[in-house]
Amino acid sequence: MSFRTFKRRLKRRLGLLPPKYKSFVLGSAENYDLMGRDQFEMLKFWGLREDRYLLDIGCGSLSGGRFAIRFLAPGHYFGIEPQQWLIDEGLRREVGPGVIAAKRPQFSNDTAFNLSVFGRQFDFMVAHSILTHTSQTQMRQLFSAAANAMSPRAVFLATYLQGDSDYTGADWIYPGVSLYTFATIEAFAREHGLRCAPSNWRHPGRQIWLVFYRDSNEDFVADRRRASAMQSATAVQPGALAPA
Ligand SMILES: C[S@@+](CC[C@H](N)C(=O)[O-])C[C@H]1O[C@@H](n2cnc3c(N)ncnc32)[C@H](O)[C@@H]1O
Repeated sequence: MSFRTFKRRLKRRLGLLPPKYKSFVLGSAENYDLMGRDQFEMLKFWGLREDRYLLDIGCGSLSGGRFAIRFLAPGHYFGIEPQQWLIDEGLRREVGPGVIAAKRPQFSNDTAFNLSVFGRQFDFMVAHSILTHTSQTQMRQLFSAAANAMSPRAVFLATYLQGDSDYTGADWIYPGVSLYTFATIEAFAREHGLRCAPSNWRHPGRQIWLVFYRDSNEDFVADRRRASAMQSATAVQPGALAPA
């Protein structure tokens, strides 16, 4: 072990650095807690109930998944995450054996956005901080698979980072981020019969939540987007309560 690695591990032990299973996915322990909780609140706002089926794409160490696993009925939470150590750490440190046994979450280490691995369709799909790292090819794969895995009334909520132009690299980029214009994402989704719109749900960081859906779900999505916009408009802005 190098001196640098030793020093980093020691700092983690002493609580001077966030645990790796948190920093690897969202940078800091604060982000992990805030963004994870917010993801779950958003899913409930969009209608997640105990008896619905949720697919968490790129679930990492379950920053949001830990809340959904507890909330959903047994066998209703599914996660895809290539790095098994993240799932293991999230389950061990954030969920615990009792909840795992009772709720029976299922996972896959698929790396090709193959959303049919579980052999079922989903009412909700979430991809937090995933389109912020995908190449264009991967994004298209994801939308193609999502269109097949979404039940008729499903909503798929995903974040992106807005750019003036599109990331053109061939690979997943991490660390580092891929930026896209809204027009590009919308066009890629349309190729697979999916509509796309800003969900209007606030994000604690710089990312923007989008909702993907089918035409048949248009009225419901319009209603939730309106409600979300009103809620965001009346919410206390971060920093508003800070002393002058
Ligand atoms: C920025 S992290 C976000 C994790 C989680 N969604 C969250 O909000 O805490 C991105 C995650 O995507 C995972 N990932 C990488 N390639 C992937 C792929 N092909 N399919 C699904 N997830 C992937 C990474 O391992 C990492 O855990």
